[in-house]
Order: sequence, then C-alpha cells, then structure tokens
Amino acid sequence: MLLEASPASPVKLRCIYADDKQGNMEIKTLEFRNNKVRIIDQTKLPHKLEYIDIDNVKDMWQAIKELKVRGAPALGAAAALGVYLGISRSKAKTFGEFARELNKITGYLASSRPTARNLFWGIERACSVAVKNNRKPVAEIKKLILKEALAIIEEDRRACRNIGRFGAKLIGRDETILTVCNAGILATIDYGTALGVIYRAKAEGKRPKVFSCETRPLLQGARLTTWELMKKGVDVTLISDNMAAHLMKEGKIDKVIAGADRIAANGDSANKIGTLGLAVISAYHKIPFYIAAPCSTIDQGIHSGKEITIEERKAQEITGLFTDDIRILKGIEVYNPAFDVTPHELITAIITDKGVVRSPYKENIKKLCA
Ligand code: MRU
Repeated sequence: MLLEASPASPVKLRCIYADDKQGNMEIKTLEFRNNKVRIIDQTKLPHKLEYIDIDNVKDMWQAIKELKVRGAPALGAAAALGVYLGISRSKAKTFGEFARELNKITGYLASSRPTARNLFWGIERACSVAVKNNRKPVAEIKKLILKEALAIIEEDRRACRNIGRFGAKLIGRDETILTVCNAGILATIDYGTALGVIYRAKAEGKRPKVFSCETRPLLQGARLTTWELMKKGVDVTLISDNMAAHLMKEGKIDKVIAGADRIAANGDSANKIGTLGLAVISAYHKIPFYIAAPCSTIDQGIHSGKEITIEERKAQEITGLFTDDIRILKGIEVYNPAFDVTPHELITAIITDKGVVRSPYKENIKKLCA
C-alpha cells in the first residue's frame, strides 16, 4: 500500500491498493461456499485483499483467535459455521454420541475469544437446533445446523440495514462523525453497524465526514475502517487515538458512533479498548455518543458491564509496535486488555436493528428484546 499525504491539515491519506485497481470491488467479509467458509484475512489488510477458505473447526478457531475474522456480528456467523464444520465429519450414529461431540466442539470454539456476545449467541443457536431436533437422524441435524448458520448470515445482513436506517435519522446533513475500531462491513456480513449508519446517511444524500481513530494496538481503525470507507467513497480522515479530545475541543466532531461487543441488560456496553475514553471526553465536550449494535449483541443474562469478561491479548501486540528485539523487551511488563466497558450513563442512545434505545436503558432494553 502506498500512503500519500496531501499538504492540507489534518493529513489526508490516499491509499492505493496493489490488488484492487478498480477500487469498486464488493467486500465479502464471510461467505459459505463449496462447503467451506470463505473469509477475508483481515490481518493482511490494507496491504493485501486475501481470502482464505476454512474447512475445519481448528482453522476456524485459529482465524477467530488471530482476528482474521473479527467484529462481533461476523464472529456470530463464523462461530455458528464453525460448529457446522466441526460436526459435519461426525460419524456419530445416535444423538447421544452426536451431542458429546457437539459439546466438545462448542466448548472449543467458545474458548477462542471471550468478549463478543455474538460468538456465544451463534454457538448457542447452532446447539439449540440440535437439541430441538434430537429425534431426527444425525445427518439431518447436521443439515439443520448449517441452515441455522446461514440464517444467521441473512439476519445479520438485514439487521445492519435496519441499524443504518434508524441511525441515519440521527445524522444531520453535513456532520462529522468520530468512530473507533472497525464496526463496518468487515465486522459484519454486510453494511456494518456504526459504519452502516454512515453508509445509510450518505445514501440518503447527506454528506457525512468521518474521523477514524487508528485504534491501537492492532489498528483496526487505521487498517480496516479507512480501507472500507475509502472503497465506499466516504470522506474519511485518520487520526491517532490520542488526538480525539483535541478534535472535540476544536469543534470538529458532531457525533461519536461506536460498535459494541456485548451490551449488558442495563445498557453498559463493551467495545474496543479506547471507546470508554471517547465516551468520557464526549460527555465533557457535550458531544452525543452513540453505540450501534444488533440485538444479538445484547446479553440479557448479565445485569451490568461488571460481568463482562474483558479479553486480554498477548504482550507482543503492543511491543511489536516498536521492537521485536528480545534484549529490549526483557523485563517490560505489558498489560493488553482488548476491550473496555462504557457505562450506560455516558451513552446518548443505542442504535439497534429494532430501533433506537435511550435511558432508562434497563426498562427500554427489556421492552426491545421482549
Ligand atoms: O477485536 P475486534 O477487532 O474483534 O474488535 C471489534 C470491535 O470492537 C467492534 O467495534 C465490535 O465488535 C463491533 S463490530 C460491528
């Protein structure tokens, strides 16, 4: 990739992708074809648009763990399809045998990443199909699990369009939106959540501008959000994470929209590390702060964000930003939480596929999910 800076300030990046000369290619985050799951290897973006075909549960676990496929809604589909891949080769003759294998596979997939509700929701949906159909032949149960996983894909497609439709109503004609991480096409099946709102606003003839936080340490904002927004012709400017407060103070930001990995029953929302900081500085500057997520991200089983497990990732994701020299690294203690939780008091509204939810969140989320 070539990055070209224009003389204007802040620096505008023009990316030229060696493998996409037309620049109008459709982005297919995840697809099921020829009995394999085809995903974009997101660790390669924006340098290379590379697809990989996954045909077994071990590779799916690895792809999830290494963030080749990522973003809560995409993880829901990937996990459900992972269950299918795992169980598709089962030789079980009875439901009892099949259920034991299923348990092993789902436990294994669930151990890949802990925070995104959708990952567990996808697994649970695949399992409940098996349980509901326990009297049917094993071969048929396998087909039903696949059918359920494919239904998740279609539901997510629709959910994101609905989030976009509800969210775009909150966006004015010429507004500038700050976002973090990647809650776009690459984090879902299509369209995205936070970015779906922006795509829809643009489709309605508005002229949204986006500032994308680079999102350290894995740079999903810098690598993925700028990539897809530029592909879709959205005006996007990259900033490093520590610039957000300064931009707000300068009056450059009208709204903040972030995605979510898990939303508790009281509205507390876990999202990529750094989101909480944006919510705090938004409140100080009186800038509306929105979370955009499908209802499948809501975890009614937990009362508050305190119960959300925050994924901790390896030290090298941080140290790798400046060195891989083990002599320098010796003795450096690293803490690398991948998510944080924004308390509901700091959230102006949650934009879901069923509508926009505001305070009091507990009551309104309950009504929404009923
Ligand atoms: O670690 P990642 O890249 O999977 O984190 C993703 C996020 O934090 C997204 O904002 C979230 O999953 C919402 S995606 C629509």
